[in-house]
Amino acid sequence: MSKAKIIIDKDYQLASVDKNLFGSFIEHLGRAVYSGIYEPGHPLADEHGFRTDVLSLVKELGVTIVRYPGGNFVSGYNWVDGIGPKKSRPRRLDLAWKSIETNEFGIDEFADWCKMAGAEVMAAVNLGTGTPQDAGNMLEYCNYPGGSYWSDIRIKNGHREPHAIKTWCLGNEMDGPWQICHLEADDYGKKARETAKIMKWIDPEVKLVVSGSSGPGMPTFPEWDRTVLEYTYEQADYISLHRYYENLGDNDDFLASFVDMDRFIRSVTATADYVKARTRSKKTLMLSFDEWNVWYMKKVQIPEWQQAPAILEDRYSLLDALVVGGLIITLLNNADRVRMAALAQLVNVIAPIFTERGGRVIRQTTFYPFAMAAKYAKGMVMHPLVHCATEGTKSYEAAPFVHTAAIYNEETLELNLFMLHRGRDTTELELDFRSFGKLSMQEHSILDGPDLDAINDFEHPERVKPRKAQTGTGEGSIFKIQIPAYSWNMLRFKIEK
Ligand code: AHR
Repeated sequence: MSKAKIIIDKDYQLASVDKNLFGSFIEHLGRAVYSGIYEPGHPLADEHGFRTDVLSLVKELGVTIVRYPGGNFVSGYNWVDGIGPKKSRPRRLDLAWKSIETNEFGIDEFADWCKMAGAEVMAAVNLGTGTPQDAGNMLEYCNYPGGSYWSDIRIKNGHREPHAIKTWCLGNEMDGPWQICHLEADDYGKKARETAKIMKWIDPEVKLVVSGSSGPGMPTFPEWDRTVLEYTYEQADYISLHRYYENLGDNDDFLASFVDMDRFIRSVTATADYVKARTRSKKTLMLSFDEWNVWYMKKVQIPEWQQAPAILEDRYSLLDALVVGGLIITLLNNADRVRMAALAQLVNVIAPIFTERGGRVIRQTTFYPFAMAAKYAKGMVMHPLVHCATEGTKSYEAAPFVHTAAIYNEETLELNLFMLHRGRDTTELELDFRSFGKLSMQEHSILDGPDLDAINDFEHPERVKPRKAQTGTGEGSIFKIQIPAYSWNMLRFKIEK
């Protein structure tokens, strides 16, 4: 049996976890909105057409903020199409996903849905075909109390109270040639800066996310980020990062995807800090990792001009869930700079929640690590000292077998650990909580199983789910735990006063 040791000291604190780290994403794409969160006529839909079975899983998942309406979709979207009486809303061609958009669902419906889900809205404005003025109008519609052109239209549309949307993304993946009206970095930088000025004049409280690179593999990375930030550093509150992972046939390599995510975060942080130095700014910019996930069906043929086609409906395996769990740990361990993130996406489209049109809903395997961390990763991220074996993989020269985040909640007196074990045998783990005094172990939940390819489906909705184990022994501040091969673990300890 291999051995590992983790030491956690109360004095070694990194940063508090921002609740917005547990965000997700709903785009007008495939069945994310239509027959995902919204399906009038479904037996479990409420009077607004919101599926209550989906809503209750969204709450269980613990999502805190949801990005909307895109994604690539937003770069051709006129938000005005989605407001007012539903009967008069136009049917449009969505050029991003070659689909028909009925506009039955728009920003008012989304803001109402988020309220019911207990989540904030992260709205994106169109900086492709859209203008800075359009972005200002949308903000005025959503946030201005009343007595102006757009705010009065919102009130006429049945929303007396403003939506009070605090977080706004300035476009989406504008570095990508696939984007509708893609821009060069200088052009986007100027457009984003002027849009930001208008938006902050209308509502000085808003927090703005500028579009960073859509992945570290882009030929323009990190030059895009540097250029864009040189135009927008004073207006921006965050820069966005997007990254999707897939298994290219090597499980060990795939399980080590967290190494790549960590490098990407560090590179963007370094780029932002370079611009801080160059512009002599006193502000430190934060990162919004607002698209991340495992995604396979990138290159599938999209049937053209259908309404809510069933596209990008990836089915996730146990292995995918372990990878997602590893990525969550990396986000937590960068909590000093990554203050917001969004698992892309939330329902049906590369999502942890999966529905049948007119029928059932299930939790995909990836639901579990997210839900467990969203519930228990509250408090201060600690710097754990991890002694464990490392091994290189095809893409990474060294990756630890035990990848850990530890969160200390001073209010509830809990110390919770999240751990991806990518080793091939059980590891005996010694935990040393030296300066925490006396602790008692509350829970060891393990996500593992005999078949890494196992998925949940409508016939076997709980084939993959976490189990509770009692592998731990110990008292005081030293514990010994066994962590199985290929597993994601949550260990919860109570600290005695
Ligand atoms: O999440 C799916 C797509 O991935 C988004 O529309 C886009 O921003 C990214 O390329």
